Amino acid sequence: MQSASSFDVVVIGAGAAGLFCAGIAGQRGLRVLLIDHAEKVAEKIRISGGGRCNFTNRETGPAHFLSENPAFCRSALARYTPRDFIALVQHHRIAWHEKHKGQLFCDESSEDIIALLLRECEAGAVTRWQPCRVEAVQQAGRGFELDTDRGAVRAGRVVVATGGLSIPKIGASDFGYRLARQFGHRVVEPRPALVPLSFDAAAWAPFAALAGLSLEVTVSTGRGKGAGRFVEDLLFTHRGLSGPAVLQISSYWQAGTPIELDLAPGQNLAASLLEAKMHSRRQLGNELATRLPARLAEAWCAPLGDLTTRAMPEVRDKDLTTLAASLQHWTLEPAGTEGFRKAEVTAGGVDTRELSSQTMESRRVPGLHFIGEVVDVTGWLGGYNFQWAWASAHACAQACAKAATMPDVAVVPAAHPQAL
Ligand code: FDA
Repeated sequence: MQSASSFDVVVIGAGAAGLFCAGIAGQRGLRVLLIDHAEKVAEKIRISGGGRCNFTNRETGPAHFLSENPAFCRSALARYTPRDFIALVQHHRIAWHEKHKGQLFCDESSEDIIALLLRECEAGAVTRWQPCRVEAVQQAGRGFELDTDRGAVRAGRVVVATGGLSIPKIGASDFGYRLARQFGHRVVEPRPALVPLSFDAAAWAPFAALAGLSLEVTVSTGRGKGAGRFVEDLLFTHRGLSGPAVLQISSYWQAGTPIELDLAPGQNLAASLLEAKMHSRRQLGNELATRLPARLAEAWCAPLGDLTTRAMPEVRDKDLTTLAASLQHWTLEPAGTEGFRKAEVTAGGVDTRELSSQTMESRRVPGLHFIGEVVDVTGWLGGYNFQWAWASAHACAQACAKAATMPDVAVVPAAHPQAL
C-alpha cells in the first residue's frame, strides 16, 4: 500500500485566496500542497472585472463588507492593505489603472494576476494537484488526513479556500460549507449577492421602452443595521433594472421587501418644479426634460395624459409634488434575484464567531482555517472581494508560518472519517 504524502499545510481551493495563501506559506518555508477540483486554475479571477480583474479598491475598509459579525474583517484588512497588494502588482511589473471610486484594474488582462499568483506559488515551491477531488477530511493525531483521488495526504493544517456558490459552471461548490458543518461549525445561510434583481414581467411593461438608458441614481433598501444605500449607475433593461446600483443593493435586499430609487439624486425636484411654475411658460413634459434624461421624462409623463402638455403655470402644485415624489422615491418590489448562476459573490458562509479574526483558524478545531469567500464576509462591488481574499489569506499564511515555529502543545483526538 502507498503511504500518505505529508505536508505542513494543505490548501483546498486554488482561487484568489487559496493561491495567495499557498504562495506566502510556501515562501515562509512551509511544505504546502494546493488542491483544486477544477480543470483550470483561478477561473473566477480570469472572468473578473470584465477580463481585467478589479484586483483591489484603494478605499477598502470594514464598512465595505456585510457580515453577521461586521468587526471580524477589521484585523486582517488592517494587516494587509490595498497598498500592500499594489506593491506586489508593481513588483511583478503589471500595468494597472484606477477606473472609478478607488477601483484598480489591470491594463491588459486578468491573466496577469493569475500569473502573479502562480509565480508566488512557484517561489514558495508549492505543490499543486489540479484537477484533484478531496473525498474526505478527518482529524488524525496532531493534524489531518485527507482522502483524495490522487491518494491519501497528511497535513498539520488544512486551509479551506473553496469560495462560495456563485457560477457553479466554473467550479463553485458547497464543499467548504459541508466541511465546516462536519467539524461542528455554523454556516450563515448562503445567498446570491451582487446579482441582478428580477421583476415581474407585467409590472415591468410600462418601463420596457427605457431599455438601454443609463443614469446615476441613489438606491436604498432595508432599515436599521440591515439598510443599504448607494449612489451608482443604473441601467434599464427589457426585463428590469441592472448595472452597479442594482448589483450593490442586491446584497442588502431581502425577499418580499421593496427597493427605493431616487432618479434625480442631488436635486430637489419638487422645489425646482414649483419654482419653475412661477416663471416658465414651458409644458410640464418639456420642463421635466431639462432636469432628467429626455427618455426618462417622457416615460414618466406618459401615464399623465394631458397634464404633460399643460403649461407650467397651469399645473397644480399637488401634481408637481406628486410627480417629483414618484421620481425621487420610486419604490418597487423585485420578484427575486437571478440566483447563483449570475451572482458575482455569495453572501453568508462560515460563521465568523467561531473563527479567530487574527488567524482565520477555527475555534473548534485547531489547525483548520477558512479564508476568502467561504467565510461570512462579503464585499461591495468594486474590488473589495479580492482585497478580502488577499487579506484573509495573508493573515492565515502568517499564522501557519508562526505556528510552525512554536512547540506543538495541543494533541487533537482522532475523529471518525467522514465522506464529503
Ligand atoms: P474562488 O471562487 O476564487 O476560488 C475557489 C476555488 O475553490 C475555485 O478554484 C474552485 O474550483 C475551488 N473549489 C471549489 N470547490 C472545491 C472542491 N470541492 N474541491 C477542490 N476545490 C474546490 N471581485 C473583485 O474584487 N473584483 C472583481 O473584479 C470581481 N469580478 C467578478 C466577476 C465575476 C463574474 C464573478 C463571478 C466574481 C467576481 N468577483 C470580483 C468576486 C471574486 O471573484 C471572488 O470574491 C473571489 O474570487 C473569491 O476568492 P476565493 O479564493 O475565496 O474563491
